[in-house]
Amino acid sequence: MCGIVGYIGHKEKKEILLDGLQELEYRGYDSAGIAIIEDGTLKHFKEIGKLENLRQKTKSYTSNGFGVAIGHTRWATHGKPTELNAHPHLGEYSFIIHNGIIENYQEIKNELTAEGVQFVSQTDTEVIVHSFENENHTAKTPFEAFTNTVKKLEGAYATLLVTKAAPNTIFFAKSRSPMLIGFDGDDVYFASSDSPVIGKANEVYYLEDGEYGYAKSGEVKLFDANGERKISKQALATDKVLAQKDGYRFFMEKEIYEQSRVMSETMMGRVLDSGIDFDEFDKSLFDGIYAIKICACGTSYHSALAASYLFERIAKMRCDIEIASEFRYKEPFLTDKTLFITVSQSGETADTLEALKMAKRAGLKSLSICNVDNSSIVRESDAAILTRAGIEKGVASTKAFATQAMVLWMLSLYIGQLRNTIPKDKIEIEIDAMLHTPKALVVEDKLHERIHRLSKRYLHGHGFFFIGRDIFYPLALEGALKLKEISYLHAEGYPAGEMKHGPIALADSELFTIALMPKTLLYDKMKSNVEELSARDATILAISPETFELADDFIQTKHANHPMVEFFEMMVVTQLLALEISVRLGNDVDMPRNLAKSVTVE
Ligand code: F6R
Repeated sequence: MCGIVGYIGHKEKKEILLDGLQELEYRGYDSAGIAIIEDGTLKHFKEIGKLENLRQKTKSYTSNGFGVAIGHTRWATHGKPTELNAHPHLGEYSFIIHNGIIENYQEIKNELTAEGVQFVSQTDTEVIVHSFENENHTAKTPFEAFTNTVKKLEGAYATLLVTKAAPNTIFFAKSRSPMLIGFDGDDVYFASSDSPVIGKANEVYYLEDGEYGYAKSGEVKLFDANGERKISKQALATDKVLAQKDGYRFFMEKEIYEQSRVMSETMMGRVLDSGIDFDEFDKSLFDGIYAIKICACGTSYHSALAASYLFERIAKMRCDIEIASEFRYKEPFLTDKTLFITVSQSGETADTLEALKMAKRAGLKSLSICNVDNSSIVRESDAAILTRAGIEKGVASTKAFATQAMVLWMLSLYIGQLRNTIPKDKIEIEIDAMLHTPKALVVEDKLHERIHRLSKRYLHGHGFFFIGRDIFYPLALEGALKLKEISYLHAEGYPAGEMKHGPIALADSELFTIALMPKTLLYDKMKSNVEELSARDATILAISPETFELADDFIQTKHANHPMVEFFEMMVVTQLLALEISVRLGNDVDMPRNLAKSVTVE
């Protein structure tokens, strides 16, 4: 997710910007840039990759005296992560940085192009700076030009503009993307969240949607649709880690809550009204392909296993899933008619990387689904789809899993379109369900509170069975993994129909069964499996839109019209359950014992 910083004052500006951007690194980015105006001179630097690259590029530059400065880390959405697409974007004499998406950018771009304006990047952001300079030809003041520009924008934006037309000023506007203003005497700061300004500013104002204005030496003017507004400053927190958590107790909790938003990013530009489109590769990647093999570990293996149902059902393509550490030594039979897909959050998992290298040696084409651009697995693959979950700090994966499952679902539909295995009306149903997913991922206070209350009953006993069928079986595996990772309690995931072939022998009142009972998929079959367990006195926690009288505890989910929408809603329930049980047990859920975020050893 992009990050914004800004500063106006006498201090050395380059370090303020670079330090501020460093604090926003946790959001994830693939390029960075800064622009500074000092003594009427405009300076700017941009680099792709890590901030260290930008530090190296700006090594011999320092800025002294009064000036204005803006900096940005970019997480690519419109256009690839290149230096040209990195912010700040230049007009003729102004620079812009922006977080969010300008939904009507194409319309504005067409108008400006017709007037002879040249665009150099593929971003939506560039329209803001050209629009401003275009308005500035006729406006009485640069602020009037900026106001007219902001009025044209539709979508989400937190944006800062600096211009030689008003060299002591930073113009700002905010709608649906976070931004704050920090104050320290006459020094003014801007940032996407608290952490870049902690230790620098002592008071802060969190901008509201629709607010815009300008900051000039020591003076900040704020406006909204009703005219000028008073700025009600508040004291700033002093703990950086706390600030990065945005008020949540744990990064894992924050990441569970973020899932709804990041899912929209995952779909952006890929889920279209007419079907699925991936910019990242050419459809010839699938020429001559008759089967898919997916290799992954842990949570990523679970998203792959869920996808195997979708590839066969939607794309009508044979799909095998392998645990990477098993695959490596089984002397697998591989043919070049198989597309080899790896799924990895970090892109550095040793077993998955080695499996990929083996498949490449055997002549297979490869595609990776990954959250980290330029990671080893991405670099090693013929093509990659980034999941766009943003950096995940909690060791127990949540939003990375959710976005992997979404990308794989999209890919199954893409292949179905390509192979004509899915009729048009079915494509529409799938697209509609995808677009409903962000809503299904919203964590309602009522739900979280209920899970918090229920969790106290599940701190003892001799173990948990998470059970489900079809795509809810991999979700059961994932629910169990989440719980054992952070609570250290024993938990297993099982296909519900398999219980009677052995595991049901364990059933008693001290065995907790978490039953995933979606209404849109095999509900009656699942119900019979749970009845069998209930008859043997197992304690049942049912998660379902349908009340279930045999359940000891019940968490009601919403009725949906697609299994994947139910999948995502139930996923949130299992994540929160693991979190709340573990918090009650006094565990550090962000750093569970014995686990690492990136497993680069065999
Ligand atoms: C569990 C978890 C792990 C990883 C596994 C593979 O919460 O995160 O099971 O999924 O170590 O890692 P990646 O996805 O980075 O290849």
